[in-house]
Amino acid sequence: MIIQENYSLKNLNTFGIDSSAAYFVELSSIDEIREVLSDSKFTSISKLILGGGSNLLFTKNYDGIVLKNNLKGITLIKEDANFYYVKAAAGEIWHEFVMYCIKNNYAGLENLSLIPGNVGASPMQNIGAYGVEIKDVFYELEALNIEDKTIHVFNHAACKFGYRESAFKHEYKNQYIITSVTFKLLKQPVFNTSYGAIETELKAMHVTHKNIQAISNAVCNIRKSKLPNPKEIGNAGSFFKNPEVPNNKYQSLKNDFSEIVAYNLENGNVKLAAGWLIEQSGWKGKKIDDAGVHALQALVLVNYGNAKGKEILDLSQKIIDSVKNKFGVTLEREVNII
Ligand code: FAD
Ligand code: EPU
Repeated sequence: MIIQENYSLKNLNTFGIDSSAAYFVELSSIDEIREVLSDSKFTSISKLILGGGSNLLFTKNYDGIVLKNNLKGITLIKEDANFYYVKAAAGEIWHEFVMYCIKNNYAGLENLSLIPGNVGASPMQNIGAYGVEIKDVFYELEALNIEDKTIHVFNHAACKFGYRESAFKHEYKNQYIITSVTFKLLKQPVFNTSYGAIETELKAMHVTHKNIQAISNAVCNIRKSKLPNPKEIGNAGSFFKNPEVPNNKYQSLKNDFSEIVAYNLENGNVKLAAGWLIEQSGWKGKKIDDAGVHALQALVLVNYGNAKGKEILDLSQKIIDSVKNKFGVTLEREVNII
C-alpha cells in the first residue's frame, strides 16, 4: 500500500478533468482499508471513495485523501430453486462482472451491460438502463463504517433505492465504504425488452430466439450508437436526472409543447425526458470553450479537451436556468460534484 501525495486524478475520472488529490491510495483488501483509516494523519481530513470515476465531476483539487477501491473477487455464495446469489467485490469492473454472469447463465443483469464504473458504486445511485435497475436484482451489500471500521450488512430495504437514489447518497453519505454487493440472479431468465429499442435491435441482429447474451449485445449496440465513449470524449453519462412532475404540471406543459417526451409513472406522476427539455432550450451541440453539450444526446455534458470542472459546472447551471425559464421545471444533477 503506497500513499502518494499531490496525485493527478486526470486519468481516474471519465470527464478527464485535470485535478489532483492531496493524498491518494489504492486499497486491495479490507485490512488495508482499516490500516489507512487508522493512520492518525488521515483521521480528520476528508475522504473520497473512488471507483471508476464515471459519475463525478472534480471542480477543484481534492484536499483530502482519495481511496481508490480495488477489492476484487466474484463468488457464488448460495443457490436455491430459482436463484443464484452472486457476491462481487466493490472493485470489480461493472461490465466485466455483467459479462461473467452472462457466461455463467446468471440472468438479470444483461440490460445493464456496458455501464461504466465499478460494482461498489452500483448501489450508490441504483444504476439503471433499458428498463432495469439494480434494485431489481439486489440482495444485500457489505460496507465498512469509516468511524468504527466494522463491516455492516445492508439489505434491500436499508438501501432505500429510488430512481438514481439510495440511502448512501443521503443519510449514509461519507460514512461507509461499500466493500461488496450480492445480487440475486435468476436461473430461468425473464427477458425484459420493454424498451422498444431492444426489440428493434434484436430484429436488426436477426435474433429469433431471445437469450441473455443477445439482449446484452443489443443493449451494447444501442448504447454505442447513442452515448459518447469517454475514452474519446470526456463525459459522465447523463449529467441530469429525468425530472418527475405531477400530472397536472405535465398536462399544462403538454398544452404548450405538444411534442414533449414523457413517461407515466406508477405513482401517477410523469417523468419528462430531460434530453428533450435541454434540446428545446437550444443547448444541444453548444460549446463554451471546451465545455459542451453533446451533439447527439443533450443530456450528456462533455469535455472537449481541457475544460475545467468549474466550467462544466457553470455550463450545467446555465442549462438548469434555461430549462427552468422555458418550462418551469428544475433539473437536478445526477453527477456527484466534488
Ligand atoms: P465513481 O464515479 O467512482 O463514484 C460515484 C460516487 O460513488 C462517488 O460519490 C463515490 O465517492 C461513490 N463511491 C464509489 N465507490 C464507492 C464505494 N465502494 N463505497 C462508497 N462510495 C462509493 N449510470 C446509470 O445509472 N445508467 C447508465 O446507463 C449510465 N450510463 C453511463 C454512460 C457513460 C458513458 C458514463 C460515463 C456514465 C454512465 N453512468 C450511467 C454513470 C456511471 O456509470 C454510474 O453511476 C456508475 O455506477 C459509477 O461507477 P464508478 O465506479 O465510476 O463510480
Ligand atoms: N431526447 C431528445 N434530445 C436529446 C436526447 C434525448 O429529445 O438530445 C429525447 C428523445 O425523445 C429520447 C428520450 O429523450 O427518446 C430519451 O432519451 P434516451 O433514450 O437517450 O434516454 P435518456 O432518458 O436520455 C436514460 C438514462 C440513461 C440510460 C438510458 C437508457 C437518466 C438520467 N438517464 O437516458 O442513463 O442509459 O435512459 O435507459 O435516467 C446515466 O444515468 O448516466 C445514463 C446514461
